[in-house]
Amino acid sequence: MNIAIDGPAGAGKSTIAKRIAKKLGYIYVDTGAMYRAMALYFIRSGVGADDTAAIDSGCENADISIEYRNGEQAVILNGEDVTGLLRTEEVGNMASATSVNGNVRKKLVQLQQKLAATNDVVMDGRDIGTVVLPGAEVKVFLTASSAVRAKRRYDELVAKGETPDITKIEADIRERDERDMTREISPLRQAEDATLIDSSYMTIDEVVDAVVDLLP
Ligand code: DC
Repeated sequence: MNIAIDGPAGAGKSTIAKRIAKKLGYIYVDTGAMYRAMALYFIRSGVGADDTAAIDSGCENADISIEYRNGEQAVILNGEDVTGLLRTEEVGNMASATSVNGNVRKKLVQLQQKLAATNDVVMDGRDIGTVVLPGAEVKVFLTASSAVRAKRRYDELVAKGETPDITKIEADIRERDERDMTREISPLRQAEDATLIDSSYMTIDEVVDAVVDLLP
């Protein structure tokens, strides 16, 4: 059984997917973390976000795999657990920029399809329902307004003791949406057979229930 959840950054995909995985005993696969691990590799190698040739050849040298530790996904980059280094704005922006590359996508999509072939998964990302798992039993397109998504991110950063600028956060979110939706290969879009859920004014439990209700 495969559940595909796609949608823009900050719509709550990972929170919802994790809860559903726990509830149903499925594996949660965070594909954004794979693109982020690849981006971290490029940042560390000093590769520019628009240096296509270096990204094409560099991604051959980045060995990315997934392990599960106490039910949590860990991302391993060339033997190192990089899970704790992936959720920064710098890595996120680099991931958005380098995930347009065909070689990067081919490599990570293969890994994602392999995981789904042998496990019950809840997988979230941008192209899961359209490209990675077109045959998924349940497909959801989870979204929320950019203002709501910016506020959620702002609250997260404030809770960490930071003093973020909400206007800048919303501008970054819009810029990333635009890039993810207009790229040539596997753009972010709702699969024809996906159910649209707008989480702007829903609680986490309400969204989880709405997805679980879609199971055959
Ligand atoms: O979901 P996230 O913020 O961790 O994703 C980081 C970037 O990776 C996002 O801007 C687009 C890219 N991505 C992708 O292209 N395809 C996916 N399936 C998941 C993420």
